[in-house]
Amino acid sequence: MNGPNLNLLGRREPGVYGSEGMDSVLKGLRQEFPDVEIEYFQSNHEGALIERLHATWDEPEVIGIAFNAGAYTHTSVALRDAIAAIPAPVVEVHISNVHTREEFRRHSMIAAVCKGVVAGFGVDSYSLAVRGLLKAVVE
Ligand code: DQA
Repeated sequence: MNGPNLNLLGRREPGVYGSEGMDSVLKGLRQEFPDVEIEYFQSNHEGALIERLHATWDEPEVIGIAFNAGAYTHTSVALRDAIAAIPAPVVEVHISNVHTREEFRRHSMIAAVCKGVVAGFGVDSYSLAVRGLLKAVVE
């Protein structure tokens, strides 16, 4: 799952987030994890992200969620509560190393209710999050 502004991945601030778009990232993930069905959801709206998380209550096939909540990571108590509410484990993902950037990016509202955090590996952060989830949940 991706949050706000990540629909612009590949075009947005390429010096920070790279020039690869999410379509290409997803293609790579599906090649790397052929035995896993990878669904993608992106929204710029906090409520839509919350409702997508809630929907996993009725989707026992969802074994985990790699979630780049974008700027909502740093602000959203509501997303934190939604992550805490659902049974599926969530991994917090960031393309950039948020700890080397502005002070306000160093704090995460959601990290404490996530299974783990991956940040700073470019778009490979998504793949590392899926690997971590699979290892934690399936193996
Ligand atoms: C981001 C980091 C956030 O601070 C920022 O607001 C984003 C992207 C990342 O992937 O590095 O939108 O989550």
